[in-house]
Amino acid sequence: MAWYPTPMTNHRTIIEPFKIKVVEPLTIMTRGEREPILREAGYNLFLVPAAAVTFDFLTDSGTTAMSANQWAAMMVADESYAGSRSFAKFEKAVKALTGYDHVIPTHQGRAAERLLFEAVLRPGMKIPSNNHFDTTRANIEHLGAEAVDLVIEEGRDPALVHPFKGNIDLDALAKFCEENRAAIPFGMITITNNTGGGQPVSLENIRGASEIYRRHGIPFIVDACRFAENSYLIKVREAAHANRSVREIAQEIFSLADGCMMSAKKDGLVNIGGFIALHDKTWVESLRSLLILTEGFPTYGGLAARDLEALAVGLQEVLDEDYLAYRTAVTRYMADGLNRAGIPTVQPPGAHAVYIDVKRFLPHIPPHEFPGQALACELYLSEGIRSCEIGSAMFGHYTDPSHDPKSFVPSQMELVRLAFPRRVYTQSHFDYILEGMEEVVGRKDDLKGMRLTYDPPFLRHFTARFESV
Ligand code: F0G
Repeated sequence: MAWYPTPMTNHRTIIEPFKIKVVEPLTIMTRGEREPILREAGYNLFLVPAAAVTFDFLTDSGTTAMSANQWAAMMVADESYAGSRSFAKFEKAVKALTGYDHVIPTHQGRAAERLLFEAVLRPGMKIPSNNHFDTTRANIEHLGAEAVDLVIEEGRDPALVHPFKGNIDLDALAKFCEENRAAIPFGMITITNNTGGGQPVSLENIRGASEIYRRHGIPFIVDACRFAENSYLIKVREAAHANRSVREIAQEIFSLADGCMMSAKKDGLVNIGGFIALHDKTWVESLRSLLILTEGFPTYGGLAARDLEALAVGLQEVLDEDYLAYRTAVTRYMADGLNRAGIPTVQPPGAHAVYIDVKRFLPHIPPHEFPGQALACELYLSEGIRSCEIGSAMFGHYTDPSHDPKSFVPSQMELVRLAFPRRVYTQSHFDYILEGMEEVVGRKDDLKGMRLTYDPPFLRHFTARFESV
């Protein structure tokens, strides 16, 4: 598929563009050893101890391996309560990248969301985006406001191939802004669109959204947690930008908006951290007051100075184009390998994860028997992989409190996400996993659905327990 070349997969074996200095043992276990562990965990992978997981693809968030330069920076951190030198380095790195004048550190992405929303949102307000991530939506709804998803139609079809399935529907956005102007305190866009399968947004689309927001005088805030991956996918998929550097593309994205929220646990290449950065000072004073009230002084915001140091370096390193070529090549390689083995995935693959389309893979298991959960359990038993169900176990619900299957409202898609930690697993790990997929495919018709034995009142997926039907 020439329209999205990934330079590394064209000719030779994918190589990691780094050498390894510190290693951590990998848990090696048999299926027989994993069976009682999974049973004990109520067939919920969130309840399986990490020590019993070989390949942990639960999330790409906070799971990055840091570089020698990041660890070195941590050693010189200045842990002063106020005005630390490390804050100055962090602030300089964020300003150089985003061009925004006001930088507010937070301990992670959802803390940034909570602060900005608490400072600005009132009940009845509406926030448009392509797709809001779960925590973003939950924080908006918690304040009585409405999170509105306006992703393009193509973004809702897992099998459809389109280079920018994260795009926001510009016609729908223009109409939405005209009709609801008074209720919109700011508009958003999420790059990449995690909820919609980790799909990128084109620069043309971001320019279009920016133009609409500006026409209506609506501030434009980017959820930027995978900004580098999105910028790289613009470079390789959007012809007009093929000869620009990824840094330049990222800087243009930030220049088109009025601010950003960032979970630095993704493209910040750190294990904890986040920030809000803004052009305008209108909200800054109330944000800093809330920050002091609940997170910490404005020059550390709930982080240690060593976290700020690691982040200042990570924001530079993540724009390395050899790294980004390697990262997207691995994801593409895994998606292609799964597809060849007969496992359909959301097309085309993005950068941080592969999403298995379970509705197509296990059509014999109905949504109320959680096909994604059944597959996630099988991937654990056969390969030691921890993945994340994003389907009816996460989003489905019963309208009848007796859990009558007829009253079950399923999730729109049944997906299992394999999210790849940054710089952690090697190409031989990925090859080994693909070799084992034949076994998974061989068992596919014998896989059985699941039923809930404990259904918590909210955020079911974290603590629910299941058994095989
Ligand atoms: N926005 C997006 C697009 C995200 O993917 C996440 C987190 C957040 C905001 C919240 O950031 O975790 O630092 O509070 N996504 C993780 C994931 C949890 O597994 O996809 P956070």
